[in-house]
Amino acid sequence: RTRSHSSASTVGTPFDKLGVIGLGLMGHGIVQVAATASSSSSSSSSSNVHSEVIAYESNASYLDGGRDRILSSVERLVSRGKLTSNDAESLLSKITYTTDRDALDDADLIIEAIVEDVELKNDLFKDLGSRCKSSAIFASNTSSLCVTNMAIASGRPDKFVGIHFFNPVQLMRLVEVVRTEYTDPTVFEDVMGWVGHIGKVGVSCRDTPGFIVNRLLVPNLMQAMSLVERGDASIGDVDLSMQLGAGHPMGPLHLADYIGLDTCSFIVEGWVKDFPNDASFYVPAILKQKVERNELGRKTGKGFYHWD
Ligand code: CAA
Ligand code: NAD
Repeated sequence: RTRSHSSASTVGTPFDKLGVIGLGLMGHGIVQVAATASSSSSSSSSSNVHSEVIAYESNASYLDGGRDRILSSVERLVSRGKLTSNDAESLLSKITYTTDRDALDDADLIIEAIVEDVELKNDLFKDLGSRCKSSAIFASNTSSLCVTNMAIASGRPDKFVGIHFFNPVQLMRLVEVVRTEYTDPTVFEDVMGWVGHIGKVGVSCRDTPGFIVNRLLVPNLMQAMSLVERGDASIGDVDLSMQLGAGHPMGPLHLADYIGLDTCSFIVEGWVKDFPNDASFYVPAILKQKVERNELGRKTGKGFYHWD
């Protein structure tokens, strides 16, 4: 029942050169799956999706961090026999790492995956709109922000969509493709086709807060935090309950740590500000406290749990 283009043909997409901005939890995974689909000899995806994937970061230390994440994920797949060494080498050769924004100027599709901050994203898209070739399509991986605002900031709202991946990108099959009232239908269809070519399943959603998954998931994570905050149940029992009682692969507090408590907080704080009358959007005090203490979950080694 989902809209899927995953039975991809061997014909490529109109997006020969892909640019990805931000190589954090999400961006590094997006680079990796796009490069894999552009190189793998055994994958069901097309083998010529992109001739090159530009992996851009704003500074050298973030860039090194992104490269390390990709290398460790690829090594993990090779060590478990899920990727051959040849395919690993081939996918890595498709990636160009850079801190030079000029490298994005002739990209065909650019996906932004920087921190969930509306000002930073709007400024970035304004700059991209002025420097990138006029046919380039822009996309944001935002979890919660208004795609229409970014589309307008870019100066090319007809060529703008949300492309929302899920964490971990290497394993999660879904991608939400978000259209605004300005999105050109051909652009939308091309992006849906691309999602299938990289081996994911695309669903379509209008530009609404949290799209489909986060609109349902994030209020659930906040409720789980409130249960713990009130002392109704322990962290472990809340998580175990949702795993064994609702069949979720991870309990909600484990998942919030996995997503990043800073990202969870950016998402709900933005919604509270923009939709103050929606009772399902609120920020539990326990979340605020953890973020203030830099206990951001897996990325800082401590959140609701301790992480190695
Ligand atoms: N790269 C390569 N391999 C990876 C990997 C990565 N990044 N992460 C995990 N793997 C591998 C593991 O090495 C393991 O390999 P083997 O089977 O060979 O041992 C395999 O994948 C499975 O991993 P695990 O054994 O660690 O654990 P698992 O079976 O529980 O699966 C999971 C992990 C897929 C993450 C699963 O726990 C799950 O689905 N969790 C829920 C994730 C979820 O809900 N994500 C959405 C978050 S919300 C979001 O993303 C939107 C937003 O905007 C906030
Ligand atoms: P992250 O914290 O792992 O990475 C954030 C990235 O932003 C880093 O690459 C960093 O270099 C960059 N960055 C930080 N400050 C910056 C600045 N001032 N200017 C430019 N770049 C800057 O975050 P993430 O989890 O990868 O999230 C990235 C985007 O993806 C966000 O919009 C988030 O909402 C969305 N998202 C996150 C998840 C998740 O589970 N974490 C899932 C889907 C979508």
